[in-house]
Amino acid sequence: MSPSLDPQNWDEFRSLGHRMLDDMVDAMSTIADGPVWTPPTAEAREALSRATPLQGEPLQTVYDDFVRHVLPYPTGNAHPRFFGWVMGNGTPDGMLAEMLAAAMNPHVGGYNQSAALVERQALSWLREIMGYPQDASGLMVSGGTMANLIGVMVARNQADSRIRESGLCAAPRLTIYGSDQTHSWVEKSADILGLGRGAVRRLASDEDGKLDLDALRLAVEQDRQNGCLPFCVVGNAGTVDGGVVDDLDALADYCAEQQLWFHVDGAFGALLAFSEQHRGRLEGMQRSDSLAFDLHKWGYLQYELGCVLVRDGKQQRATFATEASYLEPLGRGIQPDALEYSALGPQLSRGFRALRVWMGLRHHGVHKIGQIIDRNVAQAQRLADQVDHHPLLERLGPAPLNVVCFRFRPADTTIEADLKAINREILLRIQESGEAIPSSTVRNGRFALRVAITNHRTQDQDIDQLVAAVLRHGQALTT
Ligand SMILES: Cc1ncc(COP(=O)(O)O)c(C=O)c1O
Repeated sequence: MSPSLDPQNWDEFRSLGHRMLDDMVDAMSTIADGPVWTPPTAEAREALSRATPLQGEPLQTVYDDFVRHVLPYPTGNAHPRFFGWVMGNGTPDGMLAEMLAAAMNPHVGGYNQSAALVERQALSWLREIMGYPQDASGLMVSGGTMANLIGVMVARNQADSRIRESGLCAAPRLTIYGSDQTHSWVEKSADILGLGRGAVRRLASDEDGKLDLDALRLAVEQDRQNGCLPFCVVGNAGTVDGGVVDDLDALADYCAEQQLWFHVDGAFGALLAFSEQHRGRLEGMQRSDSLAFDLHKWGYLQYELGCVLVRDGKQQRATFATEASYLEPLGRGIQPDALEYSALGPQLSRGFRALRVWMGLRHHGVHKIGQIIDRNVAQAQRLADQVDHHPLLERLGPAPLNVVCFRFRPADTTIEADLKAINREILLRIQESGEAIPSSTVRNGRFALRVAITNHRTQDQDIDQLVAAVLRHGQALTT
């Protein structure tokens, strides 16, 4: 037989595959026993900078190198004491779903096939959970940045019907609005969409960190007077630094009144919709024109997995659909219709991300995921309380959801530069010790330790352990 890339000996392949699975189940089930993070050793760096392999080698050898040089040095986000940035952990069933999806390896641009039906089903559940109508369109994408970009691109194109054909030279200066707490995807998107970063109006947030509606009204009026075309308002369901949910209902009212596109970035906060206890905080989100959220953050699933929903599906199609003779639908056969998913985003070829969502939702159910989200919110509250009640700790900003910013603050240290140096060193020592991974940010000009809890493995004692570590390192540095 002529060679293919299949193994020559399937039995050997099978037994290596079984070993891999056993090893990965061992690694996942004992994750809490090891350090959160271990930096790659010099040996690993050396092993991972080899020349391009012109000749093959046994899969077993490659796998041995994976076990020695790759597996021990991840970012650590699968660990229960990983609290950096906003990362999810992945689930064991998500791991298996990735393997199943890879084994099938379907092209999920559309087509008359099961994978497209799985995505359709998963999207239908997500629409229902998020309070969106069933005739809204939706697409699974790589993550929050891509989901937000797609929402804003639909908004941009509906703002002026000439844009798709003639580009931006046909349109007035388009402007987009959000609070100063909006994630940096918005500048990236404005740049990619040809609007320029200067199209983004970052408006003052109020003392709770919410977009100030008066500031929004004023900015839109002024821009209109100056000949700009305001086209989109971004509401935050969970700001990256503070977990703040804007007043989405008021923003929905304002956008309806002013005929502006209302886009919600719910990268992690939209997942509160899973929680019976907290979904009320999202009131108004279901009235948005488009909504972006991630399943790879507070949905706890493996990377990469974001989702965008667009209320008026026709608009999303009108933004992305293209024609090509080789993709002409034939009414029957494998491609009876236009490629349903390729027509809703920039990708033509797409993988089977949806399987992870479909399996995860079926296996765990909405209620259990919601309860773990509730626990994360309670853990953030536990941390905030401990900070508030300790004389050497100071909270920096409200902690309404799952993000807490704080710092170590000895009574006799008042100079900001000194506090920054101390807290920076505390952070690095904790990270490098492997005890926990918080990250950092700057709140009102003050360097903060930032703890974001989107972790289904975190137990309450993990929070207590983090606080103890901050105090231990802080005291060692200052006494
Ligand atoms: C509020 C918010 N929006 C958007 C993003 C970007 O999402 P992604 O990293 O999936 O592209 C993040 C990432 O942390 C986020 O927290």
